[in-house]
Amino acid sequence: MSIVKYMKILNVVGARPNFMKIAPLMAEYSRRENIHAILVHTGQHYDDTMSHLFFEELGIPKPDINLEVGSGSHAVQTAEIMKRFEPVLIHHKPDVVLVVGDVNSTIACVLVGAKLGTKLAHVEAGLRSFDRSMPEEINRVLTDAISDFLFCTEQSGVDNLLREGIPQDKVHLVGNVMIDTLLKNRAKAQSSTILDRLAINGHTYALLTLHRPANVDNPQVFGHILDAIDFILKDMPVIFPVHPRTRKNLYSTTLGQRVGRMVGLRLIDPLGYLDFLRLMMSAAIVLTDSGGIQEETTILKVPCLTLREHTERPATVTCGSNQIVGRNPQRIVAAYKDVVNNDGKRYQIPPLWDGQAARRIVDILTDKKHEGASRHQF
Ligand code: UD1
Repeated sequence: MSIVKYMKILNVVGARPNFMKIAPLMAEYSRRENIHAILVHTGQHYDDTMSHLFFEELGIPKPDINLEVGSGSHAVQTAEIMKRFEPVLIHHKPDVVLVVGDVNSTIACVLVGAKLGTKLAHVEAGLRSFDRSMPEEINRVLTDAISDFLFCTEQSGVDNLLREGIPQDKVHLVGNVMIDTLLKNRAKAQSSTILDRLAINGHTYALLTLHRPANVDNPQVFGHILDAIDFILKDMPVIFPVHPRTRKNLYSTTLGQRVGRMVGLRLIDPLGYLDFLRLMMSAAIVLTDSGGIQEETTILKVPCLTLREHTERPATVTCGSNQIVGRNPQRIVAAYKDVVNNDGKRYQIPPLWDGQAARRIVDILTDKKHEGASRHQF
């Protein structure tokens, strides 16, 4: 009788952009016989439209454990996740803890894992905005410094890690799990009814998302972005699914009244994955401060203006449809006019963004040459 050896992989998700990254990995694990996958949701995001809906639409199994940490300051949230995650790790003793992205849940769980001597895998490693005022940049740098498997979406990630002195054998260019999810769901998104529900089917429209603290926590900066939106509204309606942080900031200032008067600006609740993908697919232009949307518009070949001063995803600019335009209204409007009048941007797909990233990651994790017990300190 042969004894089957299972590899136990404990996976962590917490915030909205994590869910589309974990979905193809969970599907890939379920296709393998030798993997026991555990899913932990930290509860960083908890509203139905920020969490549950994504599990349903993307077929992600119900989390085995929900730490239910909720919102808080960076220190409170990170510390609370660490406190609640440590006993889970001690109980399950996985071979590997796998984290995705750059949110507080990512760094909190990696820090716990490193102190307990568990092997750590970071999916979406090496991305750098070189802007340390972004909480995500801190999370990225620290997570990469203590992880054992660093899975990169683009060559810049590999280059950044090697420059930071990470040994080459830890670094793997595997492609983009978020794009695995997009390619898998593209056809399904065609049957979303969101365009009819918003009465914009067949119409030209722009799509706007904003949630970065640097944009929405400062009313003056937020106001400048709205100045640019005022200009675009002369041409077309702007659909604006509003993140909870953004909504809170809008309605605690006079900006709430201002957006109410902006004819054609359609403020709607956050959307599920399929509705939002459908909206992106038919948009004339997308304006965003999100990281993931820069990548999704690149695949969809929809022009994207990123309302930030930097991107940690330079392949979306060098290859894709993205332009970094900052928050100055004149600059945003100039880039908008350029897109509308003369859509001359290159539209290529970065290497390995082909729907196979999860398969590559699991191949590497389960490869015999990477085997080796975690230095458990349980
Ligand atoms: C977090 C991530 C950010 C990511 C974003 C995607 C960090 C540091 N930031 O930012 O990288 O791009 O998620 O959405 O991890 N709230 C709700 N319901 C929820 C979740 C949040 O109402 O389900 C409200 C709360 O008031 C909360 C605020 O939104 O205080 C911010 O949530 P938080 O998770 O702290 O940060 P995000 O801005 O969502």
